[in-house]
Order: sequence, then C-alpha cells, then structure tokens
Amino acid sequence: MSLMEELADLKCEALKQLRDADTPEALEEWRIRYLGSKGAVKAAMQRLKEVPPKDKPQAGKAANDLKTSLEAAYKDASDKLGAAPTRRRPPQTLDVSLPGRRPQIGHVHIITQTMNEICEIFARMGFAVVYGPEIEDERHNFDALNIPPAHPARDPLDNYYIDEATMLRSQTSTVQIRVMETQDPPVRIISPGRVYRPDTVDATHYFMFHQVEGLYVDEGVSMVDLKTCVDQFCKAYFGPQVATRFRPHFFPFTEPSAEVDVSCSLCDGTGCAMCTDGWVELAGAGMVDPNVLEAVGYDSEKYTGYAFGFGIDRMVCVRHGIPDIRLLFENDVRFLRQF
Ligand code: PHE
Repeated sequence: MSLMEELADLKCEALKQLRDADTPEALEEWRIRYLGSKGAVKAAMQRLKEVPPKDKPQAGKAANDLKTSLEAAYKDASDKLGAAPTRRRPPQTLDVSLPGRRPQIGHVHIITQTMNEICEIFARMGFAVVYGPEIEDERHNFDALNIPPAHPARDPLDNYYIDEATMLRSQTSTVQIRVMETQDPPVRIISPGRVYRPDTVDATHYFMFHQVEGLYVDEGVSMVDLKTCVDQFCKAYFGPQVATRFRPHFFPFTEPSAEVDVSCSLCDGTGCAMCTDGWVELAGAGMVDPNVLEAVGYDSEKYTGYAFGFGIDRMVCVRHGIPDIRLLFENDVRFLRQF
C-alpha cells in the first residue's frame, strides 16, 4: 500500500471513530490519538521523508489535507460537545468555608524586645534614653574614661580598630562621655546598643553583643543610690523573687567598682549550667571616677555619680533559658519564632 492509500484509509478510520466519540472524554482521547504531539497525523507527516522526490508534492498535499480536515472535524465535534476537560488543569474549586492562610509578617527580635522593655523600666525610674555611634574614637572609648595609652584594654588584639584613631566601640560607656560633654548635671540617662570585641566565639561569647549603659550624676549621688537602682531594675525585669549582690571589682572609670550578680532564676540559686553557684554575672558598675568627671569639665568636688553597664544578651539567655548565645544571631526563624 502506498503512503497515499494509507493516508486515505487513516482519514476514513479517524472520521468514523470521531462520529462514535460522543462524550468529552472520548473526544479528548480521539484528539490525542490523531492530533496529539505523538498522534497518527504527526507520524504520517514524518513518513513524508521516505517518499521519492517525484511523488513528494502530491503526497505532501494529501498529508496536509488529512491534517486540516481532521482538525476541522474535531473542531465541529468539540463545539457540539462542549470543551473537553483537559487533564492538566482540573476544574478550579474554591471552598469559601476554609479558614484563610495567615501571611508571614515576622516580629520584633528578642534582643530588640528586651531592649525596649529595659528602656521602659528605666524610663519609669526617671532615665532618659540616648544613643551613641558604633564607630568611635579613642577619646570616647578610652582616654576620657581614664584608660591610659599603655592600658592592656587598648590592645589591638582585643579591639576592632578601623585605623589609628577610630574603632568599633568595645563598650557603651562611650556614651557617658558623649552625654556629659554636651550636658550639665544633673544627668540621668541609659544607652542601649551594640558593642564589638574580637572574642573567640563560644556558647557565652560572640564578637558583637549588646549592653545597656546607665549614668546618673548629680550632687550627693551615692553607692546606696546605685545599689537601689540596680536592685529595683533586676526585680522589675526578672521578678520580685530575685536577689542581687555586688562583688568588688576594678574598672578604670569607676571607683569603687563592683560586678553585679543576680540570683539565677533557672535553678533558684541551687546551681546549674547557666550560673556559678546560683549567681549570674550581669553587669559592671561603680561610682564615676573623679578623673572621668574632670575629663568632661564637671566639678568633681561638687558632683558625684554612678554608672553601670548590663550585658543584655546574658539577660535574655537567663530569663528565657537559652543555653547558647549564638542562637540569638543565627537567624533561624524556628528558634526566633518562639519569642
Ligand atoms: N563598660 C564596662 C564593660 O563593658 C561595664 C561598666 C559600665 C562598668 C559602667 C562600670 C560602669 O565591662
């Protein structure tokens, strides 16, 4: 049988089957069998290649005729039956009774939440909130804070220097100086923010962390005021059950100086992985050194003051039972979502 005859047979057979296809599904099956990308018409077209050159024009015309007449017949049939359900797109249904999907909108990071809460507590105690720059000069980070040029705290290995004169601040005490330079006593401020030290990263250390600095300078400010303020703050943040204690310490910018511990709220003071014998070290504090007051032009005979610096990340870990500071900065939403 020649190709021409085969094409004629194919057309007859296809039209006959089309007449029998009386459901949308049957019609769709027919379309795929004859007009689909792997269908009979396509196959016949491909066989044109085998036809000797002299018969090509005639065979080509017959093949085209087959294609157009089957397409036309299909169109008539499908108009009569209505559109066949296509397999790729199932009918869309909308169940209006389903609850809606909540869009993900994110929320405030636990560190920021904590800073806001800290600011609120201190605001109730009469402290104004001020912010200082993270890129600092040596005067504000060291000199004016009574840290002399040869002091080990200035070691390039322990600080992020940008050049000879500028650095990422290693403590928020810088803001004490900035405030006193521009304001006369009385001053009563806190200053939360990021600080940077090239510490080896582990469960309790990170190269960037957060502090909140406090400073109160006026006539007659004493160590009793400092202890009261710190104790009241800790009770407001951790709850009335916590105790605080001062351990003697040294800071160049305060005299006398102390480290502040708070009783561990995870183990109630019995000792756990988070604390040392039931106490957690939270802050440095002390009476502002007269040298610091003089460095900003305050009369150290007339005025006294106290200062403190709390480690915010540590506070977050203790209050929420977080065993590793790195969790705070890895930005794993499964972790952050809990707060
Ligand atoms: N700046 C000190 C630190 O980073 C903390 C501190 C602040 C101590 C204020 C005393 C007074 O360790």
